[in-house]
Amino acid sequence: MTKVEEKLYACLETVRKITDFQPRVALVLGSGLGDFVQHIKIADTLAFDALPDFPRSTVSGHVGRFIFGSVQKVPIVAMQGRIHYYEGYDMSDVVLPIRLMGALGATHLLLTNAAGGIRSDLSVGDLMLLNDHISCFLPSPLRGQNPDSLGTRFPDMTAVYDSELNSRIRLAASAMGITVKEGVYLQAPGPQYETPAEIRLYASCGADAVGMSTACEAIAAHHMGVRVCALSCITNRAAGLGTHLLSHDEVRQAANRHKDAFEKTVLAAIREMNLA
Ligand code: HPA
Repeated sequence: MTKVEEKLYACLETVRKITDFQPRVALVLGSGLGDFVQHIKIADTLAFDALPDFPRSTVSGHVGRFIFGSVQKVPIVAMQGRIHYYEGYDMSDVVLPIRLMGALGATHLLLTNAAGGIRSDLSVGDLMLLNDHISCFLPSPLRGQNPDSLGTRFPDMTAVYDSELNSRIRLAASAMGITVKEGVYLQAPGPQYETPAEIRLYASCGADAVGMSTACEAIAAHHMGVRVCALSCITNRAAGLGTHLLSHDEVRQAANRHKDAFEKTVLAAIREMNLA
């Protein structure tokens, strides 16, 4: 067994001593989606620091616990607070919670985040489903000995984000009067925001939006055969494209101002993930 598997299965054993909950959908609540918890009928919670050798969320506003419960009768496990690479953890630790939710039985994963808009039509408050990502500026979460019990050494990444689910989510959102765009997300290392020159580089690489999470989580989930969707709330124009300097406060406030459509779309996504 690899180190990754030893750690993962030790965490799984700890969770299983506490709950036999079987989630269908795993949900990662990014910046601005903290209030989504009110939509979850909570059965149980588990703090990250109750798990052996588990990374802790150090970002203010990220609580750091799993919530087991249901949303519209769909059994879900949600991460309230995620682990970011910039907090100093190895990539394999950053994605450990994702693997744990997969090992608990989640067949679908919905990732959410706040992102900076690069493509000209991505304005503050827009929602964007990922149809692809660029993660090659960071180490792979699959680097190191392959955990064969999870997936293959050289997984295909042609279709990380489930296009059938994306279509269903866009249709369901549209029926509620919410427009959801699609695009390519680039995971930047952070924690500093990008420079304007970096944003020009990323734009020329084909990035539509930029953030500091998500792609590594999507890779780990896809590796283990979990169906993945990811939804960004555009909280700012990326560096050099807006009218002012960037700050975490601005990102938080923008996410908060637009949480209504964000939450409604997440609810629709969970419904669709239960059907398809
Ligand atoms: N860059 C990186 N991460 C982000 C941004 C950004 O502009 N906005 C929200 N998260």
